Amino acid sequence: MTPRLTRLMSVGDGMKRESIRLARMAMMIATIWVLPSFEQVSADSRADQFENGKKVYVKNCAGCHGEKGTGEGYKILGADPADFTASSTQKKSDKDLLDTIHEGKATMPSWKIRLSDQDSRDVLAYIRTLAQ
Ligand code: HEC
Repeated sequence: MTPRLTRLMSVGDGMKRESIRLARMAMMIATIWVLPSFEQVSADSRADQFENGKKVYVKNCAGCHGEKGTGEGYKILGADPADFTASSTQKKSDKDLLDTIHEGKATMPSWKIRLSDQDSRDVLAYIRTLAQ
């Protein structure tokens, strides 16, 4: 190889390394910029979920399950409304509780056709916040 060619190649290598360095820097800057805005969005949507869940709860569920979720609301003959602050309810999976909300249980009507999927998930998230 001629010395000139070797020199050219090492210049090329240097350029490659330089562009990798720049790409890494751009990625770092992008990460620093983008991450906090992601967190902001999810914090906002958590607050929205809480607000919506609470609204759905107060309107549809508090009458039986009580404002605080302890089941002190209206008791029709039959099973007492579940106490959401009890660990027996809180330790059930989201899927189990969602199924019960959808299908109804004892004197509780089925909510499937009354609540959207979003409302069901939000009200479940709200019930989770009622745990003691
Ligand atoms: C008419 C009264 C009534 C209303 C209104 C009502 N529930 Fe219920 N709910 C009950 C009763 C009764 C049970 C069954 C208690 C038992 O025997 O386990 C129950 C059980 C549940 C359970 C299961 C708890 C567990 O530990 O398995 C969930 C979750 C639940 N209700 C959510 C809701 C949500 C969400 C709403 C509003 C959208 C709602 N309920 C409205 C009476 C009601």
